Amino acid sequence: MKINILTLFPEFFDSFKSHSIIKRAVEKEQVEINIVNIRDFAEGKHKQCDDLPFGGGAGMVMKPEPLIKALEEHKGKVIYTSPQGVRLNQGLACELANEKEITIIAGHYEGIDERVIESSVDLEISLGDFVLTGGELPAMVISDSIIRLIPGVIKKESYENDSFYNGLLDYPHYTRPAEFNGIEVPEVLMSGHHKNIDEWRLKESLKRTYKRRPELLENRVFSKLEIKLLNQIKEELNNDI
Ligand SMILES: C[S@@+](CC[C@H](N)C(=O)[O-])C[C@H]1O[C@@H](n2cnc3c(N)ncnc32)[C@H](O)[C@@H]1O
Repeated sequence: MKINILTLFPEFFDSFKSHSIIKRAVEKEQVEINIVNIRDFAEGKHKQCDDLPFGGGAGMVMKPEPLIKALEEHKGKVIYTSPQGVRLNQGLACELANEKEITIIAGHYEGIDERVIESSVDLEISLGDFVLTGGELPAMVISDSIIRLIPGVIKKESYENDSFYNGLLDYPHYTRPAEFNGIEVPEVLMSGHHKNIDEWRLKESLKRTYKRRPELLENRVFSKLEIKLLNQIKEELNNDI
């Protein structure tokens, strides 16, 4: 998969590409991350990429010409990072992981000229209902959420058990030591009994989801085991009150 990121601040991405799982995925050629400096597509001595807003008001607006020129050379699904877009979630990350090439535009200042969005953007993606100074962090977040889902980048079992992948929050994790600050790891996890461990994990996932994000369960098609476990959870929680 190829991810082009169009930005006015390419240095932002130096660290992103050179650490941990992302670095490995790049080295193994599972993903190509192509950081594109929008300024390289600007005309004139000053390579101006922003200008005053028509109608007045605060801030600058990213000019359309350099962006459109950059988009002529960088194809695939075009995404604009924007607080006005659809909210990024695991389902969307999974969909995007199937693309061969995506191009992400990182906005800055007041954003990009609306005509670029109208003519060339396939999808606007938001990280949430807050405003950041620029689209570089969202571009990294979107890329990271996609790259870890590309086959072979991490183990399938690993992301399949992550929160949201199967509609539930992840279960709690523990590592050595078995006792820390007087708190012991749940006994079942040290039993070596895989069926019991799986059931404990499923129950903890259901419990967390029920307590923290009940809306995730609203349209779920429950298995028989999940119904049994959820009834136990409700009874236990009632007894706790
Ligand atoms: C200061 S913001 C512009 C916000 C814009 N004036 C608005 O209110 O919709 C500059 C850039 O940061 C990025 N950005 C800011 N908040 C974001 C968010 N929640 N999700 C995705 N991108 C965001 C966008 O690329 C945006 O063009």
